[in-house]
Amino acid sequence: MNNTRHLVNLALIGFMGAGKSSVGRLVAEQLHFDYLDTDDLIQARTGRTISSIFKEEGEAFFRKLERQLVKELTARKRTVIATGGGLPTVAANLASLKTHALVVCLWASPAKIWERVRNQTHRPLLRDPNPSLKIRELLAVREPFYRQADVLINTDLRSAREVAQQVVHQFRLAQSGRQ
Ligand code: S3P
Repeated sequence: MNNTRHLVNLALIGFMGAGKSSVGRLVAEQLHFDYLDTDDLIQARTGRTISSIFKEEGEAFFRKLERQLVKELTARKRTVIATGGGLPTVAANLASLKTHALVVCLWASPAKIWERVRNQTHRPLLRDPNPSLKIRELLAVREPFYRQADVLINTDLRSAREVAQQVVHQFRLAQSGRQ
């Protein structure tokens, strides 16, 4: 890893249902960092749900809001940032996060993702006649981006608490320059 980077924050990337929000909260608690979720912030600022933004303005508009927010994140310190699943598929977003954060990807298999999201309804991209296939297709396209994370953690067989411990461990290693 490039030693000139200032790892003042920790960013969690990964597919929908990978556990970024639940793990992110636990990690923030353990590190005594603030917690920030890009989807939550976009919803709070626009006063609209992600679904309604997608429906009324389209995905491209949502991606612009994400892009703007990522630029602002460079000013954050001691923050765990949970990102929307599509955010790191814009190369400039990933590059920007890497300037100030250790980027950790929470990985999950398509089967595990489907198991975790099947009873949820708030994700517009999974409102599809065949959501299970959609997960496979999207994940295949996104995998090369997710693999650019500094650390990749497979969450399939781990609880959120176990994953959080791994993330904290990796963050401390990276901060002490032993990675
Ligand atoms: C998206 C993931 C969602 C949210 C939006 C689009 C994606 O966030 O940003 O629905 O493109 O994968 P989560 O990954 O937190 O579900």
